[in-house]
Amino acid sequence: MKVFRDKVAAITGAASGMGRALALDLAREGCHLALSDCNAHALAQTVAEVGRVASRSAPMLRVTSAIVDVSQRDTVHAWADETAAAHGYVNLIFNNAGVALSSTVEGMSYDDLDWIIGINFWGVVHGTKAFLPHLQASGEGHVINTSSVFGLFAQPGMGAYNASKYAVRGFTEALRQELDLMNCGVSATTVHPGGIKTNIARASRVSPSVNGLLVRDAQQGREEFEKFFITSPEKAARVILEGVRANRRRVLIGPDAVAADAMARLLPAAYQSLVVRDARRKRRKLLGNGASAPAHDGERA
Ligand SMILES: NC(=O)c1ccc[n+]([C@@H]2O[C@H](COP(=O)([O-])OP(=O)(O)OC[C@H]3O[C@@H](n4cnc5c(N)ncnc54)[C@H](O)[C@@H]3O)[C@@H](O)[C@H]2O)c1
Repeated sequence: MKVFRDKVAAITGAASGMGRALALDLAREGCHLALSDCNAHALAQTVAEVGRVASRSAPMLRVTSAIVDVSQRDTVHAWADETAAAHGYVNLIFNNAGVALSSTVEGMSYDDLDWIIGINFWGVVHGTKAFLPHLQASGEGHVINTSSVFGLFAQPGMGAYNASKYAVRGFTEALRQELDLMNCGVSATTVHPGGIKTNIARASRVSPSVNGLLVRDAQQGREEFEKFFITSPEKAARVILEGVRANRRRVLIGPDAVAADAMARLLPAAYQSLVVRDARRKRRKLLGNGASAPAHDGERA
């Protein structure tokens, strides 16, 4: 899709971070918007910011907004149908809403697993399936599903997040191939951001199981997570929209995502020992050289 003007884009997780930045960029381009999030207060702020942008660059812009929890199948389907009815057609769905969880596999509760898979994976499935018929009806459509750099390589403490983002990648790559075969005017792109300066770490859940193994405590864990955030959400939104314009199958955002992709492809199994070595080095730095390794760690002095 080369031109966004007068198209209609639906965005999940539009209240913050990359979702908000995408909404503002698309508004500047004159793309009508259907914005959703589960956070009503922050979503209203996005709508207000979009209104200010539109008043300068696209005064006829139509903007609708809805409180949608993407893990709720019926709610997402109802929102897709309401969006098509309100705007007349829908061209783009950005399945962007997501959350993070730091936990070992051993320490993660099924409640936390259901929570993250419900949002990060099922949310993407719901958005894709609910909007696909509307995108096909529009004659020119694009599904943009947000995976992560953690959909390219795995890391200790990120097992649930890795599972959700690898699943988004597999689901979207298969979808893209089906759409290519169907030649139906709809395409799909998987997005793999590296560290982006958003609220994701602050909103994340951190299980005590990572304390002492990877971090000192939850607060320090979130701070450590944020140290890897090197790209602005505005830059990320620009890269995503360039990827849609170029009809890319995958979009990597940031030099960290490019490096991680290269590492996972060049050393598809051996990269794991590099990651473990790095995690041990960081732990020694954080906890001090005298810190005793957890009994199950197997680390040699
Ligand atoms: N920030 C990063 O470093 C990074 C890296 C890789 C991938 N990602 C992915 O990018 C996407 C956007 O995240 P972000 O970094 O902009 O984070 P963010 O926390 O700033 O924004 C995420 C938005 O999703 C919303 N959300 C959370 N649960 C929801 C639910 N159940 N239903 C609807 N909305 C919900 C939040 O309210 C928030 O507005 C996510 O899928 C995330 O996993 C982020």
